[in-house]
Amino acid sequence: MIDLSTRYMGIELRSPVVVSASPLQKEIANLERMEAAGAGAIVLHSLFEVQIQLESRNLDRWLEHGAESSPEARTYLADLKDYNLGPEGYLEHIERAKRAIRVPIIASLNGVSQGGWTRYARWMEQAGADAIELNLYDLAADPAVSGAEIEQRLVDLVGEVRATVRAPLAVKIGSSFSSLANMARRFDQAGANALVLFNRFYQPDFDLETLEVVRTLHLSRPEELLPRLCWVAILYGQVRADLAVTGGVHGGADVLKCMMAGARIAMTTSAILERGIEHIATMLAEARAWMEEHEYHSIAEMQGSLARWAVADRSAFERGNYMQVLSAYTFKAGVGKT
Ligand SMILES: Cc1cc2nc3c(=O)[nH]c(=O)nc-3n(C[C@H](O)[C@H](O)[C@H](O)COP(=O)(O)O)c2cc1C
Repeated sequence: MIDLSTRYMGIELRSPVVVSASPLQKEIANLERMEAAGAGAIVLHSLFEVQIQLESRNLDRWLEHGAESSPEARTYLADLKDYNLGPEGYLEHIERAKRAIRVPIIASLNGVSQGGWTRYARWMEQAGADAIELNLYDLAADPAVSGAEIEQRLVDLVGEVRATVRAPLAVKIGSSFSSLANMARRFDQAGANALVLFNRFYQPDFDLETLEVVRTLHLSRPEELLPRLCWVAILYGQVRADLAVTGGVHGGADVLKCMMAGARIAMTTSAILERGIEHIATMLAEARAWMEEHEYHSIAEMQGSLARWAVADRSAFERGNYMQVLSAYTFKAGVGKT
């Protein structure tokens, strides 16, 4: 009997495949299908800082003007009602999800500045979320703000949310820090129980016909897994926080690789957006079949087995790899002839 269970931030999960945040999670019926397909846990779609701030700004304006004093105030009230469906609706959604399914629910809070909005982490916990994932999606586009300033702000934010909740706290980050390993340690020290590697950054494209900038969202490709595997393998054993992969997990083999690098869970979104929620069961069946064939009995047995500290050739994770990889490249027939 193969044991697919894993432990993530102190929570026992029946499988290492976790559904990462996406709008699929807005429907309770989808959560039920994810549970039925074998997901170990589910991260809900994010509640965004801007949604919360918008709500509280409208509330302040409404309180200032008085609901009955002017038609404008009535509009504020109507707006407030709409915005309330944002944050308040999110908390109700957590409650509904907890009633509907038994696998752990991780609520997602998405923002980068310190402020009152982080109190929603506590309300998410009170609504029944088993853990909180704080997504630090940010683009450092202001030349006047230094990397050190940005990084300190993010570490302080993690500390602020940590101080707000008792529930386990995961922090979802991008890879664009000058020293990722150092930032991982600082998030760890600020109280993150898990680091989720990495956010994908969505860049706009240019439409040459209309000469407009267009928003694009391409689903991930499996090769996007590689930088995540590399960094999990490097960080494993160097931080207390559990490690999770998000980005490029499309099949059972990807899940196994994540485990061997040292991750506790492998998260997936694009694969199920492409192939359907039931693809989770296929990923698990593929992982189980490989384990049977290679005589592994549990996920725990393989976790970290290919981490940087565990392998004989650590240079594969270091600068030495760079020269070797480049010089070993072989041209296709006919290409590069003089
Ligand atoms: C349509 C869509 C919506 C998403 N919404 C969120 C979100 O609300 N919060 C979040 O943290 N990540 C969100 N993500 C990112 C995913 O959770 C995930 O990290 C990313 O897609 C990489 O994983 P994948 O390669 O398995 O898709 C979204 C992704 C997609 C494709």
